[in-house]
Amino acid sequence: HADGAACPVSDRARAFDPFTGAYQIDPAAALAWSRAEEPVFYSPETGYWVVSCYADVKAVFRDPLLFSPCNVLEKITPFPDEAMAVLASYGYAMNRTLVNEDEPAHTERRRMLMAHFLPANIEAHRDRVRVLTREKVDAFIAKGRADLVEEMLWEIPLTVALHFLGVPESDMARLREFSMAHTVNTWGRPSREDQIALAHEVGRFWQFAGEVLNRMRAEPHGQGWMHEAIRQNALHPDIVTDSYLHSMMMAIIVAAHETTAHAAANAIKLLLTDGAGWRAICEDAALIPNAVEECLRYAGSVVAWRRQLTSPATVGGTDLPAGAKLLIVMASANHDERQFQNADSFDIYRDNATDHLTFGYGAHQCMGKNLARLELRIILEELSRRLPHLRLAEQEFTYLPNTSFRGPDHLWVEWDVAANPAEGAE
Ligand code: HEM
Repeated sequence: HADGAACPVSDRARAFDPFTGAYQIDPAAALAWSRAEEPVFYSPETGYWVVSCYADVKAVFRDPLLFSPCNVLEKITPFPDEAMAVLASYGYAMNRTLVNEDEPAHTERRRMLMAHFLPANIEAHRDRVRVLTREKVDAFIAKGRADLVEEMLWEIPLTVALHFLGVPESDMARLREFSMAHTVNTWGRPSREDQIALAHEVGRFWQFAGEVLNRMRAEPHGQGWMHEAIRQNALHPDIVTDSYLHSMMMAIIVAAHETTAHAAANAIKLLLTDGAGWRAICEDAALIPNAVEECLRYAGSVVAWRRQLTSPATVGGTDLPAGAKLLIVMASANHDERQFQNADSFDIYRDNATDHLTFGYGAHQCMGKNLARLELRIILEELSRRLPHLRLAEQEFTYLPNTSFRGPDHLWVEWDVAANPAEGAE
C-alpha cells in the first residue's frame, strides 16, 4: 500500500531519515542493513519506497515506462499554502525538463538536443577547464592552506557550465546561492520558517532564468547548448516548448555545476583520506581516469534519484502498487557486494568501476557525464602535479541536508609551501 498503512514496517525502515544523521554522513553505510535484509522498504518518514540494491536500482532505471521519472523534480517536502503563494507571486511554474519527462516526448527532445554533448564538442572545453584550474591553483599555491570548495571547486564547474550553455557570465556567487536553494527546495526538508525564505529565493531564481532566456533569445546566432535549444524552440515549438525552455534553464544551471563541484570535492577528500590512491595518481597521471570512476562509485555526488510506478510491479521481491513513489539510492547500489567485490574498499585499479550508477542508467542517463569526467580529470591532474604533498586538514565535514546532491560544504587542505615542486615541471 502506497501509504504503508497495511504493510509491516520494520523498526529500521521506520527510523530511516535521509535528511539527517547517518545517511548524511555516509548513505551507503546507512543502508547496509537494507542491502542485506530488506532491499526494498517503505519509509514512513518520506512516503517513498527505498530501493537499495544494484540489480533493483538498475532495473528501475532501465524501464522508464513502468517507472516514470515524472516525480524527479517534485518537492520531496510539500510546501504549505503560504509558501506556495510566495512561489506563485513570482510566476513560478517549474514543469517538464528532460530529466523528468515521460516517453515518447523525452526521447524526441533528447535526440534533438544531443549534438552539443557529442565528444568533439566536449573536447572543445578542455583548454578552458585547464586554464581555469591553473588560475585557481595559482591563487592559493603559496598559502599552504585552502578550502578547496570555496577557492576552486564550485566556481570551475559553474564557469564551464555557463560557457557550455551559452549563458552570459553574471553574478556567480548569486547563482551558487540560487542553486543551493533549488536543491533544498527539491530534495530537502526545510523547516516551516525556512520554506518562506526559500520560496522567495527559488522565485527569484525562476525570474532570473526567464530574464536570461529573453536576453539570449535576442541573439539568434549565439553559441552554446541553450542557444541551440532556443533555435529548436523556434523551429519545433511543439517539441521544445516555451515552458520547457524556462524550466530547463533553471534546472540545468544546477545540474551542470553542483553535481560536478560535489563530485570533485568528494573525490579529493576520498583520495587524500585513502593516501595510497592519491600517491599512485601523483606518480602516474594515466591512473586518473579510472580513479575518477572509482571515486564516482565510492562517493558519488548524486546519491539518490526518484521514480513513480505507472502500474503495479514487483521490485526486489516486494509487490508495489501503481502510483508508488520510489527513492532509488545509487550510493547504496554502488556498494553492493553482488556487483562490486570488496565493495567497501576503495580501489583505483578496480576493473568494473565504471559500472557505477552515479550518472543514472538507460534512457535518461546523464547527458553531461563526459563533460563532468573531463573536468574531474583535469582538476585531479593539476592538483596531483602541483600539490602532491597535499593533506586533509583536521575538520568536521558538513553537508547540505537533502536526499540527493551530496558533497562537503568545505574541504580544508594543507601543504608545506617550502616543498612545492618547481614550476614548469609538466
Ligand atoms: C541527468 C548525474 C553532471 C546534464 C542526470 C541524472 C543523473 C545525473 C543521476 C539522471 C539520470 C537518469 O535518470 O538515469 C550527474 C552527475 C554529474 C552530472 C553525478 C557530475 C558528476 C552533468 C553536467 C551536465 C549534466 C555537467 C551538463 C552540462 C544532464 C542532463 C540530464 C542529466 C541534461 C537529463 C538527461 C535526460 O533525462 O535525458 N545527471 N550529472 N549533468 N544530466 Fe547530469
